[in-house]
Amino acid sequence: MTAPLTIAIDGPSGSGKSTVSKAVARRLGIGYLDTGAMYRALTWWCLERGLDLTDAGAVADAARRLPLEIGTDPGAPTVTVGGTDVTEAIRTTRVSTAVSAVATNLDVRAVLQQLQRDLMDRIAAQTGGVVAEGRDITTVVAPGARVRVLLTASEAARLRRRSAELHGSDDAAAVEATRDQVVRRDRDDSTVSTFTEAADGVVLVDTSDLDLDESVEAVLDVVAAETSD
Ligand code: DC
Repeated sequence: MTAPLTIAIDGPSGSGKSTVSKAVARRLGIGYLDTGAMYRALTWWCLERGLDLTDAGAVADAARRLPLEIGTDPGAPTVTVGGTDVTEAIRTTRVSTAVSAVATNLDVRAVLQQLQRDLMDRIAAQTGGVVAEGRDITTVVAPGARVRVLLTASEAARLRRRSAELHGSDDAAAVEATRDQVVRRDRDDSTVSTFTEAADGVVLVDTSDLDLDESVEAVLDVVAAETSD
């Protein structure tokens, strides 16, 4: 029996990671796991219940009890908490600004990382493979994945993309308006991981000069090369 095609993709925000990961999973006909959505779902649930996010013990406890259901179809990944569809709610500024307080809680990370490993195994068994994306998938959650990729992009490219996403434009004024947000996110996320270089055995794909289709092809090339023997 062939081993399931487990693919781990890490990268900072604006590297194109989510869009590329979903497209790669679709092209390969395998499931998809957005681990950032899990940190976001927990954050939404804590805020909803009025928990103090600086109370590390209470938030870790919430992580252990989180009634999470995560859809793994790359065409329509959905997130449900306690029966409420939070797919949209977890992308709001309210959650985005609060999530790093939750993601830097080490007990929370241990709980969610184990859940992520279990989910990856389950999805791979069901669909023959999985693309899991996040910040620590190549290094901590699934260092044994068959294919491990670190997607990067220059700060200028990430600013342009985020600006087009948020303001519908990547002209100079829109980019400037986005800069603070991107710099702050990088700083908050840097407590989790830094992305200057790929860990041993992880293939670096720089998307600065690639459009979406080219980025997807570049990752598919890595998958083909890494699974050819
Ligand atoms: O990729 P994203 O913006 O949806 O991630 C949300 C937050 O979760 C962000 O602060 C980074 C963090 N995260 C993490 O610490 N580890 C992961 N595997 C995925 C996301």
